[in-house]
Amino acid sequence: MYKFIVRPFFFLYSPEKAHYTTMDLLHTICYIPGVKWLLKKIWAPKNPKSISLMGLNFPNKVGLAAGFDKDGRYLELMDLMGFGFIEVGTVTPLPQLGNPLPRLFRLPKDQALINRMGFNNRGVDPLVKRIDLFKKKYPENPLIIGANIGKNKNTTNEKATQDYRISFEKLFPVADYFVVNVSSPNTPGLRTLQEKEPLNDLLSNLQYLNDQKVNPKPILLKIAPDLTVEQCDDIIEIVLNTKISGIVATNTTITRDNLLTDTKDLESIGLGGLSGKPVKDASTKIIQYFRQKLGKDFVIIGVGGISSSEDAQEKINAGADLVQIYTGLIYEGPALPGILASKI
Ligand SMILES: Cc1cc2nc3c(=O)[nH]c(=O)nc-3n(C[C@H](O)[C@H](O)[C@H](O)COP(=O)(O)O)c2cc1C
Repeated sequence: MYKFIVRPFFFLYSPEKAHYTTMDLLHTICYIPGVKWLLKKIWAPKNPKSISLMGLNFPNKVGLAAGFDKDGRYLELMDLMGFGFIEVGTVTPLPQLGNPLPRLFRLPKDQALINRMGFNNRGVDPLVKRIDLFKKKYPENPLIIGANIGKNKNTTNEKATQDYRISFEKLFPVADYFVVNVSSPNTPGLRTLQEKEPLNDLLSNLQYLNDQKVNPKPILLKIAPDLTVEQCDDIIEIVLNTKISGIVATNTTITRDNLLTDTKDLESIGLGGLSGKPVKDASTKIIQYFRQKLGKDFVIIGVGGISSSEDAQEKINAGADLVQIYTGLIYEGPALPGILASKI
């Protein structure tokens, strides 16, 4: 029903408008008595496999990737969809509008998206309140909530660590794990933080803060699919040195190789990160490489181009412990997380 009735209707709207309209609509109908019960019945995974990792108990292996619910506005709804964990953010210390519209584009021929959102978000303070509210309202709910943190656009790279520290400290009481995002292509200069020295400084700094806590929380690093072998090796060295818990692989790609979408259309869309099917293999290769080099003690969350249980299994076979989806949810609809979590 989603692909043949709902999706064609929503695809009439601009992608960003469709995103918020759909989510707000679903959020609103959940107030009708019985609707939550019904949706849970339809979407909940059958016999999901829970897993214990990094000291956390994940009710299943399928998570919502960062960027979909940046401000934690749809936690209840995502829980109903059957996700075992949700990564909110990327959040920055201060609210920011992100890049000018339009900044999100569909590539239906490739089952892909291009975005240059630029970390539009309402800032860390309201996010802390929303997660806290959810956890207080549903103290028994096993949903794991990770926080993906970034820097404000106006913060220079030299001062970036301070931004990550602010969000880390504020979110510490409510988030279950953290993801350090230095791999989004839409904040100028951000990806240079993936270089050896700045990355080592940033992660050592955060891990030091973490180690001061009575109960430190897992910190993971989100990486790009476009890294060279040297960059991967540098990152592996830093992960081992700083003893962070693992990596999220991968973010969107800046490449435009082998797409079915017309070159003219791609040119008119312009810059941005490409997600969905075209990033699938690159992300799987990165997962394989990191698993091989890191051994089995580090956690890898596999993300990029998952739109079926076969795709999800491919990521697990490559070495991922957990998977996440974003673009697949847009093309396949809200039943996808439950379907994946029933299979892997
Ligand atoms: C519109 C959009 C916004 C995104 N925003 C973020 C973000 O804020 N932070 C982040 O780490 N990744 C962000 N991502 C990347 C996704 O989390 C994911 O890593 C990437 O899209 C690959 O997965 P997919 O092919 O399942 O979409 C965004 C992706 C899309 C499509």
